[in-house]
Amino acid sequence: PLTTTGELITGAAAAHTAVAAFNIITLEHAEAVVAGAESVDAPVVLQVSENAVKFHDGDLLPLARAATAAAERATVPVALHLDHIQSDDLLRRAPDAGFSSVMYDASRLPYAENLAATRAAVDWVHARGLWIEAELGQVGGKNGLPPLDAHAPGARTDPDEARAFVADSGVDALAVAIGSAHAMTTRTATLDHTLLKRLSGALDVPLVLHGSSGVPDDELRAAVTGGIAKVNIGTALNIALTGAIRDFLTARPDAVDPRTYLAAGRTAMTEAVARLIGVLATPST
Ligand code: G3H
Ligand code: ZN
Repeated sequence: PLTTTGELITGAAAAHTAVAAFNIITLEHAEAVVAGAESVDAPVVLQVSENAVKFHDGDLLPLARAATAAAERATVPVALHLDHIQSDDLLRRAPDAGFSSVMYDASRLPYAENLAATRAAVDWVHARGLWIEAELGQVGGKNGLPPLDAHAPGARTDPDEARAFVADSGVDALAVAIGSAHAMTTRTATLDHTLLKRLSGALDVPLVLHGSSGVPDDELRAAVTGGIAKVNIGTALNIALTGAIRDFLTARPDAVDPRTYLAAGRTAMTEAVARLIGVLATPST
């Protein structure tokens, strides 16, 4: 059934585990994420990024309605989250489109502007009963830009700044920059676990890991143990989808029915979802 992101994250944080949040671009992504979560009997978040909305001609509703339908018929709890929003117009369309949460991303702005923009978004969103995540300290690799140097201090979230940001903005969760980067196609990121420990000690809101596709299994488990309560995964599904379609079309160059190769791609995504949720469910000790 359809549930709220706040409920899933609060539950995950209380149980010292993390909920997986997968970025969906097509209907097949939504179907695969739900099927994968059902196969391991785990709750899951379906998230739609501002970039995915742009891909669908700027219209939020087709994908939102598909995701809502997939969530409603699911045998596991499924929540809808609007991801990496920079547009205030898009933010204002979130509640009516069925999203229970948003990630408002003003992390590209200097601290004071990020705080002011996030505070305004928090006020608007909370007045409508939604849950809101923000980011401090940029997780690189967004919008096709090269990943920031993961070891550059500017790419990391400062714990003291984060404590003030959470208190002054009123956000419900914080995306932290601890060494991951978006859109990595190799799983070679190393996380700063010492920093994560300091962040989770300094903050009383759930922490979110972005760019998780590039993070190896052991590092993901350690991040969950270290206090990450929501794990955002996008690229890993696209690697699975595209790889399966490429293999299918290479083996069957005469294929024309999209259902044949989309089915192969969807199955590969379903398996990736189940596997990654399994990784998060067995945190390191
Ligand atoms: O917000 C979405 C995620 O951070 C996805 O990152 O595509 O690198 O897994 P990823
Ligand atoms: Zn992200």
